[in-house]
Amino acid sequence: MEIEEERADGRCSVEEAAKRVEGRKGKYGEAAAIAAAAMYLVWENLTVMVPNLWNGQSRRLLLDGLNGYAEPGRIMAIMGPSGSGKSTLLDSLAGRLAQNAVLTGNILLNGKKRRLDYGIVAYVTQEDTMLGTLTVRETISYSANLRLPSSMTKEEVNDIVEGTILEMGLQDCAERIVGNWHLRGISGGERKRLGIALEILTRPSLLFLDEPTSGLDSAAAFFVVQALRSIAHDGRTVISSIHQPSSEVFALFDDLFLLSGGQAVYFGESKMAAQFFAEAGFPCPRQRNPSDHFLRCINSDFDAVNMALMISQRENQKPVDPLSKFSTAEMKARLVEKYRCSEQEAKMKTRMREISEMEGPSMTIKKCGNRAKWWKQLSTLTRRSTVNMSRDLGYYWIRIIVYILLSICVGTIFMHVGTSYVDIFARASCAAFVSGFMTFMSIGGFPSFIEEMKVFHKERLNGHYGIVVYTLSNFLSSFPFLALMSVASATIVFYMVKFETEFSRYVYICLDLLSSIAVVESAMMIIASLVPNFMMGVIIGAGYIGIMMMTSGYFRFVPDLPKVFWRYPISYINYGAWGLQGAYKNDLIGLEVDSKIGGGPKVKGEVILEMLLGYQAHHSKWWDLAAVLVILVTFRLLFILILKLKEKVSPFFQTLYAKQTLRRIGEPSMATRKSKLPQFPSKRHHQPLYSLSSQEGLNSPIN
Ligand SMILES: Nc1ncnc2c1ncn2[C@@H]1O[C@H](COP(=O)(O)OP(=O)(O)OP(=O)(O)O)[C@@H](O)[C@H]1O
Ligand SMILES: [Mg+2]
Repeated sequence: MEIEEERADGRCSVEEAAKRVEGRKGKYGEAAAIAAAAMYLVWENLTVMVPNLWNGQSRRLLLDGLNGYAEPGRIMAIMGPSGSGKSTLLDSLAGRLAQNAVLTGNILLNGKKRRLDYGIVAYVTQEDTMLGTLTVRETISYSANLRLPSSMTKEEVNDIVEGTILEMGLQDCAERIVGNWHLRGISGGERKRLGIALEILTRPSLLFLDEPTSGLDSAAAFFVVQALRSIAHDGRTVISSIHQPSSEVFALFDDLFLLSGGQAVYFGESKMAAQFFAEAGFPCPRQRNPSDHFLRCINSDFDAVNMALMISQRENQKPVDPLSKFSTAEMKARLVEKYRCSEQEAKMKTRMREISEMEGPSMTIKKCGNRAKWWKQLSTLTRRSTVNMSRDLGYYWIRIIVYILLSICVGTIFMHVGTSYVDIFARASCAAFVSGFMTFMSIGGFPSFIEEMKVFHKERLNGHYGIVVYTLSNFLSSFPFLALMSVASATIVFYMVKFETEFSRYVYICLDLLSSIAVVESAMMIIASLVPNFMMGVIIGAGYIGIMMMTSGYFRFVPDLPKVFWRYPISYINYGAWGLQGAYKNDLIGLEVDSKIGGGPKVKGEVILEMLLGYQAHHSKWWDLAAVLVILVTFRLLFILILKLKEKVSPFFQTLYAKQTLRRIGEPSMATRKSKLPQFPSKRHHQPLYSLSSQEGLNSPIN
């Protein structure tokens, strides 16, 4: 079968296809052996609700006391009408629930409560986030190099990359770019398959997929699900929500979890679902796809439309759909009730208990995300980021062009500025423009940076690499572009304006501009980590730079700033104040300016610096540059700290929020709500429901 798939593109012989499939299996065998760890997932009495902010007492239940389990070697389909809670269930299990939702219940992985984010679970979400400038092959290849063990040779990694491309049927678009706002790339279905390819690369032990086949044609959907099934049958645990599977695709799933309005309608073997529906009084008609039938029975969104149709059909005396004599709400209620006292539910509870009692070395939990050494990740990420930056026009190129044009403008306006007394002000304005307004333009890279941060966030949640590696790689890859931007601008301005022409002064102006721009970039990174929204980020960034410009010493001398707040500490932590001070010193120290009165003695630059510009010349300009560099390093460290804190502290705040919410809506039962499950005999699991927050920092708290 797999060999047939290999040949499906018609471009390779049977032998070649067989060789590729076998080769791939061999390589995966090696990669898999490292990651293979049985992952048994159990969720009991899982409830998710969203409080109504305007009406303190009311709330909306998204998931209503769900129980279930997933085990290795099986693939489970989560099905249900749109809005039934499939994504919410997957998000809850993966610890990625939205901040406003409150989760109660227990989630056990191999019998233990623990966070499933940051590397435990590989999750292909409904929206795919990737770097639009890379080709499909590059995207997979970088990802493979980031995560596959460093002990694997280049050939082995390549084999896995090629194997995955084939497995997801991406060979025809392998050289095409993914696409972004200005570059039309691959189709939606191809993007979807690329998203899956990225996660199945490492054969994760626990794999979640949210509608992996949406947007795919039926043949592609079949092959994709078949690939997922083969991963599951290799000893992995796979859970996937799915919309409208064909009969063939539906038959590939081992288990089925059917949801409607957040309630469980069926949990059990998928092949037994039809019998369950028949026993409930809703047999699947012969010609109908079973999954269509199930959804038809439980989707109550269109009851009103159905009623109208029934009335018109009655008028026309046409035979009606046998199911239409019931409202869907009735059918759903009957099914939910039937399931509650069904054999399937009893079986599920027994199995949940068995799983919870299992112990032994095979139950050790291993992270699936990242197994490459940090230096390999750093070099791969730096290369990937450099390629992205160099191909994305909006990231640096447009800014570099604007910087050059602006420098020419500055150069022509301040052309050959002299050393007469009035020229002092021109020199000061020129320096202020370069170190104030020209650094301001670094805000322009914010949208591209937000896009990159989204990719980082997704990859981080899936445990692909660490925060420090990412921050370092971002600095290394952006450095050449920042250097080009600063050197080009500084060179044009320096030689057109004709500041003092010593080479060291030229070097200083380049470094001063470079370090100031790098600080603004870092500030933008911090803002992006706090407000990952393009418009809000630009507004906050502009506000920040505005304040920095105001207190840098050009509009008001630094010593004249109000002592409280503006002088101490703002002017001291302001890169602009140090940068401008350094630029003034660079220009004025050693310079002699004509006297205000014609024929008078020349005035020393140091005097002008102190008397007219409000700066003391008692420390060297290089100390000013060092201060900017210290701010730069501090900002980068702050960025790392914020990301780390967000990961560590957000569960705590979510717990607080959850507790507050539960108290506000007066839901004591959430805390003490009795599990519908029989008590587990194992000591380890003999635990009442309590806050997920107390479960080793799960980020979806319950009270
Ligand atoms: N954080 C949230 N705040 C408020 N409502 C939410 C939140 N998350 C989900 N919902 C609501 O919960 C319901 C279930 O959403 P969910 O995304 O889980 O549905 P779904 O079954 O995945 O649907 P689809 O098949 O369309 O993807 C929806 O009505 C949605 O509006
Ligand atoms: Mg969904």
